[in-house]
Amino acid sequence: MIKKILGGLLGVVILGAIGLWAFWPKGLVVNGPLLDFLTGRQAETPTADVMRDRFKLPEGFRIGIFASGINNARTLAVTATGDVLVTSMRPGEIVLLHRDENGDGAADGRNVIASGLDWPHSVALHGGYLYVAETTQIVRGLFDAETRELGALEPVFGGMPPGGNHRTRSIGFDPYGAMYVTVGSSCNVCIEEEPYRATMLKMNADGTDMQTYATGLRNSVGFDWRPETGGLYATDNGRDLLGDDTPHCELNLVQEGSDYGWPWAYDDQQPDPDFGTSNPEKVAASKPLLHGFGAHTAPLGIRFFDPDTAPAGYAGAALVALHGSWNRSELAGYKVVSVHFDGDTVQQRDFLTGFELDEDVIGRPVEMAFGPDGAIYISDDYAGVVYKVGFGDIAVPGFSVEEKQVTDPLADLDAMTIAELSATGVGLYGEYGCASCHDPEAAAEGVQVKELQALASRYSIDDLKGLFAAPPGPMPAFEFSDMEAQALAVYLLSEFGN
Ligand code: HEC
Repeated sequence: MIKKILGGLLGVVILGAIGLWAFWPKGLVVNGPLLDFLTGRQAETPTADVMRDRFKLPEGFRIGIFASGINNARTLAVTATGDVLVTSMRPGEIVLLHRDENGDGAADGRNVIASGLDWPHSVALHGGYLYVAETTQIVRGLFDAETRELGALEPVFGGMPPGGNHRTRSIGFDPYGAMYVTVGSSCNVCIEEEPYRATMLKMNADGTDMQTYATGLRNSVGFDWRPETGGLYATDNGRDLLGDDTPHCELNLVQEGSDYGWPWAYDDQQPDPDFGTSNPEKVAASKPLLHGFGAHTAPLGIRFFDPDTAPAGYAGAALVALHGSWNRSELAGYKVVSVHFDGDTVQQRDFLTGFELDEDVIGRPVEMAFGPDGAIYISDDYAGVVYKVGFGDIAVPGFSVEEKQVTDPLADLDAMTIAELSATGVGLYGEYGCASCHDPEAAAEGVQVKELQALASRYSIDDLKGLFAAPPGPMPAFEFSDMEAQALAVYLLSEFGN
């Protein structure tokens, strides 16, 4: 009896193996964390040591973890007050990461502002609303960046197809306030029957007046507008199963009414072996790529630097997240690159590498966003992390202390002098009503309080004197004598230094 069962089992195994061998699609190389991607399993949060060993950035940049434990962290948006919104695609939440006010570089806290969503991949802020792209619909709710509150979500556009190979939807707003939505293909290569597949749509911010803006885009997960020209640039993931190096993943300059080739053509009007030869007109009408990323590298988010806050050498450039390959015998991608434009030519440089090392993967970058200070946030849906990359004075968790070599700004003064100046300073602090904006206890109703803390790690006495002379944002200018400014600065540094 047992023999019979074992014999039967052996037969099933042998038949199964023959079946797999016979029907395994040509070119189906599987390497990389595909199974984890399909099941949503997460990698561990990298330790400081792992990050130090692995990550490489250009000179002058530092990286740390802004927030971790965000399952399947996908896309990002920075609010008017500098908080960072991130989608947690599985389980279907929007998480608000609170801006760093205590100067340690990391998020000061977080709260989940929406949940129970269906694959909320993309978020965008526009006209007082927070928009979320779920698989089949786009919803929005009024969002108050000050109170961090999100109103009830209402659908603005629906009817996008569920299921299929590509079920993430991406949204963005052009400088005139129109909303763009990309919907990926249902398959690797096929002729689509569902509307909206493999297209970019354009509509009003309330979802009305929808039109198909561009076609032949297999899966354009990231797009953004170039500040200098207003041009719309989108990444696109090339098809699978044509070997390790064909075709390129694409950067396209997306123009209204253009067809970018899929499923008929790839690269620069190369006929696709599955369909292209049967339809030479489609091939000839397809728009060539602007720049080719490596095959299977899976470019997702693209974000142009804000010209006002870009680090030196990056104004006019964009960052692109290469999520990383699964259909390639050797892993490729798994890094963030910068693309630099010179007329129509595009130059690609490594920006952040190390998510993959010797075929071992610790993370997969998805999207970038920039803080008001220029800080670069990078989401990773495999480790569930939002990284922060800083330069100049931007505090980065874990590295800020070593790098900045904080010196005590009061080190040159003796205790007696500090005490005397502080006594004058505290008087001025009261006299000029500083507490009304800086002390949560004493603040007038409705005032947005800016708590003073960790000043010593960021300001010298002279820095503070400069700040009084040219105060930031809503802070009024005060006319202090040099002595008064000196006394006030010393008081602030001794009272709110840490
Ligand atoms: C009307 C409100 C208001 C008053 C009054 C005010 N401030 Fe401010 N102050 C602000 C705001 C708001 C900021 C933060 C601006 C920003 O960076 O966005 C700020 C920033 C600062 C900072 C920098 C804080 C940091 O962490 O970077 C210092 C120091 C400071 N204020 C000191 C003072 C002193 C001293 C006085 C009184 C002489 C004063 N402020 C009065 C609103 C005020």
